[in-house]
Amino acid sequence: MNRAGVAQGNGRAQQQAVLATPTDLQDAQTRDIAGAMNRVLADVFALYLKTKNFHWHMSGPHFRDYHEMLDEQSDQLFAMTDPIAERVRKIGKTTLRSIGEISRLQSIRDNDADFVSPQQMLAELCGDNKTLATRLRETHEVCDGGRDIASASLIETWIEETERRTWYLFEASRAPDKTGH
Ligand SMILES: [Fe+2]
Repeated sequence: MNRAGVAQGNGRAQQQAVLATPTDLQDAQTRDIAGAMNRVLADVFALYLKTKNFHWHMSGPHFRDYHEMLDEQSDQLFAMTDPIAERVRKIGKTTLRSIGEISRLQSIRDNDADFVSPQQMLAELCGDNKTLATRLRETHEVCDGGRDIASASLIETWIEETERRTWYLFEASRAPDKTGH
């Protein structure tokens, strides 16, 4: 590395030191935890916006029920975002800065289709919430391994909420039987 490169590297290290909140946890472990938490955060933002997208573009005879259910679910997802980002800062690491960063990290896929039927919307969100539960469980293991009990405890609540959303979406997305029930 040339002298300018070294100076730039030192500058970056100094800037990172400013944001290094003191913690008793090990640096290697907080790095892994922050990486996993930031990926979850990207997925939560992606699922939040997709849930709002389907809330805004809902149609059909169950409009009111589905429109309101998706609004409640999007509120719940949005409420997760700040605590996730702040856990990352509390363990001395940095978190997401932009929509661009979300799109690079998200594993939940966007749906930009012009029209999606109500049943497809519910089924797709049901699958996405199931994927989110998997990511949360994986992240819980990383937090446990790094002795980050506080993050792990928040994640337990979020898994419960995610399973509740999945349950509601699953039941609402079932096709009616011959009797109409
Ligand atoms: Fe709304």
